[in-house]
Amino acid sequence: MKLSGNTILITGGSSGIGLELSKRLIQNNNKVIICGRSQRKLNEAKKQLPELEIIQCDLSSKTECANLARWITTHHPNINVLINNAALVHKVDFLSTENIMEMAELEVETNFMAPIRLTYALYPHLQKNTNPKIINITSGLVYTPRVDYPFYNATKAALHSFTQVFRKKTKHSNVDTIEVMFPAVKTPWHNGNPPKIAIPTEKAVDDMLKGLEKGIPEIRIAGVKLLYQISRIAPKFAFKKVNSLQDAQ
Ligand SMILES: NC(=O)c1ccc[n+]([C@@H]2O[C@H](COP(=O)([O-])OP(=O)(O)OC[C@H]3O[C@@H](n4cnc5c(N)ncnc54)[C@H](OP(=O)(O)O)[C@@H]3O)[C@@H](O)[C@H]2O)c1
Repeated sequence: MKLSGNTILITGGSSGIGLELSKRLIQNNNKVIICGRSQRKLNEAKKQLPELEIIQCDLSSKTECANLARWITTHHPNINVLINNAALVHKVDFLSTENIMEMAELEVETNFMAPIRLTYALYPHLQKNTNPKIINITSGLVYTPRVDYPFYNATKAALHSFTQVFRKKTKHSNVDTIEVMFPAVKTPWHNGNPPKIAIPTEKAVDDMLKGLEKGIPEIRIAGVKLLYQISRIAPKFAFKKVNSLQDAQ
């Protein structure tokens, strides 16, 4: 992938990996647009990077996803890169947590349905532009779930599966579909308490950009490479290992 001259939408670009990506990509591209729920976080990102275009949007809402897609195609018709990055997680006990069903729905809508909705709405438009890409952000946990996340693993595994199918189905089109699987990364995701094994955000994004430049369709970052191999050869061991690493992602 050419990392210059693009018009890029990064969902959840106001924090962590999305914000770091915005910093890197804003330099040589036509436009970087980010969205998120919190207007305050979006304003802070804009203060740091005045060239950013920001738009407030709650992707867990079907209507807001549709509005975002409409706004993008109207105001940024040259969009050629969609990065489905926004997500959230609930680290809770399934059987003893109040409002657990609302949490499940919120994760499924945000982490899985929103990327599908944006892909469906923007694909016809992306196709018309030069070098179109859809980049889905997932996790090493697509290979081996972590037991204290009742829904997160499943939403990312579902997105992984959808990404594989979508890539195959659109292989004769000009749209490239890429997946980036991160290990634990030191971002606000961890609420100030990142696991010991977490890698710096800058390193995670460096590796992602290198993978994109090389044209790798499934980019496994750092420890995810090993987890992938182990989960194929010794799935029970991989499961045990992932769940023994305290606060591993
Ligand atoms: N950090 C890790 O250890 C790690 C590991 C593996 C994979 N990942 C993946 O990397 C991606 C980015 O994570 P991160 O670590 O950068 O997390 P982060 O710092 O918490 O950032 C998440 C971003 O998503 C936005 N967001 C969340 N829910 C949203 C919604 N309903 N609508 C719109 N925007 C929403 C947040 O903004 P608002 O809160 O303002 O909405 C924020 O900008 C995620 O897909 C995550 O699954 C992270």
